[in-house]
Amino acid sequence: MRTTRLPYVTFHEDPAEAETVSHRLMLRGGYVRKVAGGLYDFLPLGARVLRRVERIVREEMDRAGAFEILMPALQPAELWERTGRWEKYGRELFRLADRHDRSFALGPTHEEVVTDLASGLLRSYRQLPVTLYQIQTKFRDEMRPRFGLMRGREFVMKDAYSFARSKEEGAECYRSMQEAYFRIFSRLGLSVRMVEADTGNIGGSSSHEFMVLAPSGEDTVVFCPSCTYASNVELAGEAVHCPLCQEALDRTTAIEVGHVFDLGDRYSAPMAAGFLDPDGRETLFHMGCYGIGVSRLLAAGIEQSHDEAGIVWPVAMAPFAVAVLPLGGKDADLAGKALRIADLLEKKFPEEVLVDDRDLRAGVKFADADLLGFPLQVILGEKGLREERAEIKVRASGERHNVAISGLAEWIGDFLGSKGPVDTGLADA
Ligand SMILES: Nc1ncnc2c1ncn2[C@@H]1O[C@H](COP(=O)(O)OP(=O)(O)O)[C@@H](O)[C@H]1O
Ligand SMILES: [Mg+2]
Ligand SMILES: [Zn+2]
Repeated sequence: MRTTRLPYVTFHEDPAEAETVSHRLMLRGGYVRKVAGGLYDFLPLGARVLRRVERIVREEMDRAGAFEILMPALQPAELWERTGRWEKYGRELFRLADRHDRSFALGPTHEEVVTDLASGLLRSYRQLPVTLYQIQTKFRDEMRPRFGLMRGREFVMKDAYSFARSKEEGAECYRSMQEAYFRIFSRLGLSVRMVEADTGNIGGSSSHEFMVLAPSGEDTVVFCPSCTYASNVELAGEAVHCPLCQEALDRTTAIEVGHVFDLGDRYSAPMAAGFLDPDGRETLFHMGCYGIGVSRLLAAGIEQSHDEAGIVWPVAMAPFAVAVLPLGGKDADLAGKALRIADLLEKKFPEEVLVDDRDLRAGVKFADADLLGFPLQVILGEKGLREERAEIKVRASGERHNVAISGLAEWIGDFLGSKGPVDTGLADA
């Protein structure tokens, strides 16, 4: 992709409304644009990051054996009345009426719809367990939408729901989703902490949250410095000592990026949703539900990884892994050569290369590449080109490597391939 073809704009002033680093950098870098409070456009660069995150989430859900579905965002009130949540959910639920005056909600989550679906789809014990998931736009009339993608009124969530024959089988589904979550966050290059959590508006018996530790986080987690105990502050309450080893607890702010719930029959009972067991008896599903804030992950990624100059994307999240910066100059032959090298690199890494072909000063190109956060910058200046060499800057470390043009593609290929094995995190969870 060439920068001159890409409709985006960067700003060098800080937008007044942005209170967090991620919000500020996403607006400045032209990743998103505010439409109204809690509502954002994803511009081409932002949409690329979103698609990359979605792809990893999808791959890991599929690997865990879950099936992708897609449910409507618009949901009839009648389903919510069956679980009592039409009354209970409160003002966060966007409610509306159709032309016949029937009531609907814009889905903030999909337990009712999916339970209704499963009760018709999964009739026999032989079909179970099954986990269904979707990646979809959710709506919540948040009291305080803020921090850009962090707390929107419309946002992208991955929500999954498991249907099992028993409590034990439900626990296995739960564990397999936890594992998938660790794989997802690890592949995204995020370090997360799993904590015990409150079951809140969703209900059920147990729940864990996945937290990205960051100063701007709206949540607080409590953890033990000497053992594995970690909890959401709401659940830990006023406790000052670790319940496992009595050590004094620490606390820190964090961003909730994922949440898993063991629901039991919280939804299957009121909706009479179940299956026939081997003796032909009607039995309630043991359910679980599992959310990931897909669009919030963009903000969390930046909160965890940035510096004064801008975003420092983990490789897997970056809209492009490599920015090629031909620096121009007076020598037309060398300028032509720089563009030919850039084109060759783009052919070699078609999804990963952005060529900054703008007719601008080197300083502007460097500043924009730093702001936008591409993991590698390949700098093609006159002096280097005369010696058949390029400079590669690694955004995260600031390291610079002087690389022969003939070895450029291999160097980049090695870098992109060296993301390391996936850590499931369960060992120290
Ligand atoms: N308003 C929002 N904007 C962006 N992401 C959200 C929002 N609300 C929830 N999420 C994301 O969706 C995930 C699942 O939602 P859930 O746990 O039901 O939300 P909450 O904890 O706010 O009740 C959360 O872990 C979070 O990452
Ligand atoms: Mg939650
Ligand atoms: Zn402890």
